[in-house]
Amino acid sequence: MSENQAWKQVSMIVDGDKAEEISEILFGLGAVSVTYQDAKDDPILEPLPGEQRMWPTTQVIGLFEKGYDTAPVISYLQHVYGDNFPMVAHDLEDKDWVRAWMDNFKPIKCGKRLWICPSWCKVDESDAITVMLDPGLAFGTGTHPTTFLCLRFLDGLESQGALSGKQVLDYGCGSGILAIAALKLGATEAFGVDIDPQALIASKDNAERNNVVDKLKLFDGGDKRIPKCPVVVANILAGPLAELEPNIAALCEQGGKLALSGILESQLDEVIAAYENDFTIDSTDVLEGWGLITATRK
Ligand SMILES: C[S@@+](CC[C@H](N)C(=O)[O-])C[C@H]1O[C@@H](n2cnc3c(N)ncnc32)[C@H](O)[C@@H]1O
Repeated sequence: MSENQAWKQVSMIVDGDKAEEISEILFGLGAVSVTYQDAKDDPILEPLPGEQRMWPTTQVIGLFEKGYDTAPVISYLQHVYGDNFPMVAHDLEDKDWVRAWMDNFKPIKCGKRLWICPSWCKVDESDAITVMLDPGLAFGTGTHPTTFLCLRFLDGLESQGALSGKQVLDYGCGSGILAIAALKLGATEAFGVDIDPQALIASKDNAERNNVVDKLKLFDGGDKRIPKCPVVVANILAGPLAELEPNIAALCEQGGKLALSGILESQLDEVIAAYENDFTIDSTDVLEGWGLITATRK
């Protein structure tokens, strides 16, 4: 490909509080899109709905049309920011980005029978229980270790005959993946709770796609009508999980099973401490630095 036919990118590593200002400059100089990335592996864990937080060190990448002359863009940015922020211009390889993105998502087996499968793929195992789910705006595609751990917990309950015919509460439902998986595994009814309206929309859409929408009821986090259930899963974060303990304990039937995730391995003890008055801790599991706690309601 000749240089002039390539898409052009200008990339800068900047302090987070400068990212939006630089984005505006890039758009002003002709960028067709601007992307932010974490430049130093400082994950932003669960911003609140509508909240936009920037990483302390952010990579800002402006994308320009094929053949665009980015030399004036670089010289303008250097004029404004001097040597404060490293910047570089380069060509972007021309490939089928939709195909490349789709190739990132493959069916995932979570336990013995449960699979999470993107709509453009197929699972060939005869006894597979499949949740069809495409990546979207709400958290939960099965690729994150915390979701995977919760899915494997649900699959394990099904294997022990402890899920079929039960009601399941998915506290912090995101895409609805856990509630939908529970229904596919034989739960009679599932309840999804989230504080993010976008998550409730995504959960409903995903339940429709999986033909279980009539068995899924959705609630805003503050709703007082959420019913008590014999199985509860909550994949949030350690801090909110500890704070939510009284709500979660009140929503779990005596003898009911609980799975908590979204907890870093180093935070397992603090979450156990918050739950052990009301629950007997059954096990902990860790995957890629993320923990799962399973427990039984006293
Ligand atoms: C990590 S995602 C988990 C999504 C999905 N259940 C999964 O396992 O992939 C956590 C979800 O919890 C929601 N959440 C955070 N705090 C909450 C709260 N206090 N009450 C209810 N939902 C909450 C977030 O909006 C987000 O959708």
